[in-house]
Amino acid sequence: MQSLIPMGLCGLGHYVPEKRLTNAELEKMVDTSDDWIVQRTGIRERRIAGPGEVTSKMGILAAQRALADAKMSPEELDLVICCTVTGDQVFPATACRIGKDIGAKRAGGFDIAAACSGFVFGSQVAAGFIRTGVYKNVLVVGAEILSRIVDYSDRNTCVLFGDGAGAAIYTPLDRAGRGEFLGGSIQMEGASEDVLAVPGGGSRFPASHESVDQRMHFMKMGGTKVFRFAVRVFAELVQRTVDQYGLDEIGIIIPHQVNQRIIESAMDSLSLPMEMVFSNIERLGNTSAASVPIALSEAVAAGRLKKGKLAVMPAFGAGLAWGHLVLRW
Ligand code: COA
Repeated sequence: MQSLIPMGLCGLGHYVPEKRLTNAELEKMVDTSDDWIVQRTGIRERRIAGPGEVTSKMGILAAQRALADAKMSPEELDLVICCTVTGDQVFPATACRIGKDIGAKRAGGFDIAAACSGFVFGSQVAAGFIRTGVYKNVLVVGAEILSRIVDYSDRNTCVLFGDGAGAAIYTPLDRAGRGEFLGGSIQMEGASEDVLAVPGGGSRFPASHESVDQRMHFMKMGGTKVFRFAVRVFAELVQRTVDQYGLDEIGIIIPHQVNQRIIESAMDSLSLPMEMVFSNIERLGNTSAASVPIALSEAVAAGRLKKGKLAVMPAFGAGLAWGHLVLRW
């Protein structure tokens, strides 16, 4: 077998909308309290897209920042992958709009609908293309406007989610010079529409007066089941990385920004200190596919990644689907 081409990460960027939705504002919308939200989730505010904003527009801003960071022109991109469950429309793919508007004239593009694991899955797909020599430069965008599918009359879900976009550009390591991709995983546990889903609007329950009346186009979630699943797989993915590379090699864990209590429970179960974790949940909430690339982009900007050490990115969500990404910085 031909040896695989080492891949690195050469550009990062992110964008979050200006409007903040605070816990105090949510108190006026549903029967909740700032205390309850902070204690159960660690979230104090989240960003909400403005009326004129669409997912592609946020993805474009993040992608342009990643291109500038990579000092790469859009014509150099071979592929644009947009990871989202809140694309501009059912089709065409949001990646096509992003690719066109940033000027990626040579690139192909498609979307990945892996919910909160989207960016990790997209990065694994990028690795498949680059490491086998099929493509050189792949843009992976995670972008979500969850506020358009969250039911702001359902206190179980509306306190958790926010909007935003993050982008990464992968290329062969000799050009990237940093962020060597070491591996990771993509996994699923079969269908779980009853646990975490938007039931309406697809072929199972197409849009109808009835589906709208029953609010089926909004996210439904079994919080406790998701909580247990997330703690379990988060801990498994980190443990696997520790077993594979050794604890001393791990410089930072940048998880899907799901809920501070989930992250603390998983770290506690592994007897690992929270200082190893990068979190922005307090400011941004859960932004699904955008959460890992935004957190990675912020962590790099804050100088939190240690040279030569590993950055581990576990993600998990609807599917149920989960996976992780391991980069050496
Ligand atoms: N404010 C006040 N009370 C709330 C509330 C809110 N925003 N949301 C739920 N509650 C209530 C529930 O209705 C329930 O009331 P009841 O006992 O009268 O029925 C009570 O709080 C306890 O609910 P429970 O579900 O046991 O709370 P919890 O400690 O499990 O926390 C979540 C709820 C949603 C915060 C938690 O389950 C969670 O974070 N799950 C994972 C969700 C997630 O991250 N999803 C995305 C995955 S990618």
